[in-house]
Amino acid sequence: MPILYDEKSNTLTIVTDHTSYQMQVDAKGYLLHLYYGTRSAGCMDYLLTYADRGGSANPPAALGDRTYSLDALPQEFPFQGAGDCRSPLLRVRDASGAFGCDLRFSSFRIRDGKYSLPGLPAAYDEEGDGAQTLSVILQDPRLGLEVELLYGVLPRLDVICRSAIVRNEGKGALLVDKLESACLDFVHGELDLICFYGRHAMERIPSRQRVEPGSRLIGSRRGISSHQYNPLLVLADRMTDERAGRCWSLQLVYSGAFKAEVERDQYDQIRAQMGLGEEAFSYPLDPGESIVAPEVIMSFSAEGLARLSQQLHEVIRTRVCRGYWRDRERPVLLNSWEAFYMDFTGEDIVGMARQAADLGIDLLVLDDGWFSDRNDDTKALGDWWVNEEKLGCDLGELIRRVNDLGVSFGIWMEPEMVSEKSELFRAHPDWALAIPGKHPVLGRDQLVLDLSRTEVVDALFEQICSLLDQGNIEYLKWDYNRSIIDVYSHGARDQGAVPYRYMLGLYGLLERVIARYPTLLIEGCAGGGGRFDAGMLYYTPQIWCSDNTDAVDRLTIQYGSSFGYPSSAVGAHVSACPNHMNGRVTPLATRACVAMAGTFGYELDPKRLSKKELDTIRGQVQDFRKLSHLVREGRYWRLGDPQRDAVVGWEYVSADGDEALVCAVVLRVEANEGMRYLVPCGLTPGATYVERASGRYYPADALMDMGMPLSGARSLYDSVQVHLLRCDGVADIKEGTRR
Ligand code: DGJ
Repeated sequence: MPILYDEKSNTLTIVTDHTSYQMQVDAKGYLLHLYYGTRSAGCMDYLLTYADRGGSANPPAALGDRTYSLDALPQEFPFQGAGDCRSPLLRVRDASGAFGCDLRFSSFRIRDGKYSLPGLPAAYDEEGDGAQTLSVILQDPRLGLEVELLYGVLPRLDVICRSAIVRNEGKGALLVDKLESACLDFVHGELDLICFYGRHAMERIPSRQRVEPGSRLIGSRRGISSHQYNPLLVLADRMTDERAGRCWSLQLVYSGAFKAEVERDQYDQIRAQMGLGEEAFSYPLDPGESIVAPEVIMSFSAEGLARLSQQLHEVIRTRVCRGYWRDRERPVLLNSWEAFYMDFTGEDIVGMARQAADLGIDLLVLDDGWFSDRNDDTKALGDWWVNEEKLGCDLGELIRRVNDLGVSFGIWMEPEMVSEKSELFRAHPDWALAIPGKHPVLGRDQLVLDLSRTEVVDALFEQICSLLDQGNIEYLKWDYNRSIIDVYSHGARDQGAVPYRYMLGLYGLLERVIARYPTLLIEGCAGGGGRFDAGMLYYTPQIWCSDNTDAVDRLTIQYGSSFGYPSSAVGAHVSACPNHMNGRVTPLATRACVAMAGTFGYELDPKRLSKKELDTIRGQVQDFRKLSHLVREGRYWRLGDPQRDAVVGWEYVSADGDEALVCAVVLRVEANEGMRYLVPCGLTPGATYVERASGRYYPADALMDMGMPLSGARSLYDSVQVHLLRCDGVADIKEGTRR
């Protein structure tokens, strides 16, 4: 059983295959955190220490014992009001406006299966997972405040999920001013914080820094999880690297404004925490009402960062992503955006589909510009009727013509938005989030629809259905291109609850769409990777990773993304050169090598390519079909860091160790330099592998020790892809066969 209660020590322990997590209800009734680390039996309360510490207050329950202070003790759910002056997870106000609560343990319950959360995305379990849920009730009788802490364990995946439900069980009104979902308290240690920052077209750049005294805040005040900071934190011992050392992660399953904080306190203890954004948040709870905190997925590895990422990949890929496309081979697509932007005709699109068919590409995606008078990005969002004049026919006819070529059809939409220059806005100005009397702040000339309102969500659902019902649409790119700045919802009781209710509206809408169109592949997008998070992945199994399609910049973006997200989620395309974003020229082979570390597709006009380039693309598409299962499901290893190394590599190894794909790109060259070597990982010790293309044999142990020479990659931006098949030492490798 993964969750155990020990009556003698009053401890609750959560055990996964390789980790243990322990908490204790102490004699005062507070719920203390004892341990999260390498799997260990026994009681870890020996880690707690008590001393009369000047400056740290003692709660009434201490009964005058000056050595007892929550300011110095590690906790499970720190709250404001009982003397812990570090950053809390919960801050509430009562009807008088006074801050402060005092939450004590009331009861616990252990049950089989992993909890789910009403209205919010959360990891799920499947039969055979042996998942369990622990719920711990904390109460403050004075306020009638109850908090249910939820812990869901997926033992084989080495993952523990957390959430909390705050309820008003009393008679007076309460206001929740801050609600976060989880924290990890460390009583000592020198740790580094790794977080993932960036900007539009350069998302998720890793940053690793020592946790210094004070607080380090990351988060988003933009209404979406954001390009700027991803809701993923990794803490690591200072010596931890890819292959060795302890590391912990906190990953939020939420796509709206969030806050994460890492604080090193006066006693050099460290608290890492994560949850809802605090600014512009105040959530009223009348008697009988409650609010659910979004889930945080936690994981721990004692074997370095690679192992931690592999754990996160598995939980995201197999227990957050769901539905028809979860385990299926995704279509190789050709997207119209960088080919035409909004300047196209129906014939251009059909011509593109013809080229797609010729290249062996599965799916043609018609991006922005197909509706109303949308010929530039200043207008028409919300008016989702097809511009038949531009297309030269209705959408059904266009789709039929594409399908007749043997190509599937997909379409772009930005459902949550409205342009001021649109019929929708003229008809329903109050549907946009805008503060009465204040000129709204625009982003890309557009406003955000108020998804906290049911009638707006219902209307959007109708619009989406009436588009999708016009023909055989098999893919939807769900875009979102600005942040939420002005928050005001007509008729709302409290504007401080609107951003959270917006997310509930969005998730509810997505749930209705996937229920009605279960085989539709939805690719998330927010100006590229501005909403690249575990919350969206619950609804959209892949997300356009960045608007930056330059293969070299993508190495950093995809490297950073790989810490928390599997390649199956990474939307990646080959585009034309010079790159439209940064003007860089890279070989077509390298662009494909990098795009193959994701869902793979093209975003260019094939008509502009030479016959040689088209032949190359035909071969790339065929190659990817032999590799896609490895990219989607293989165990991922980072072989180098694009911010540091001259050659950056990465690798996928199948679960049975029978196959691997080793990739590398040269990022820096010097004249007359020596040979470079790449050292793969995770192969089966003692085995022999043969390279599919060359037929060359490699002993696995030597390969994992001394590596392989990169003879094929000598010039700047050259790349290699080595597909290794495990063999018994006999050359019997047929094209495309797996052992
Ligand atoms: C932003 C997306 O990231 C792009 O791929 C493209 O779909 C544009 N929006 C269209 O406006």
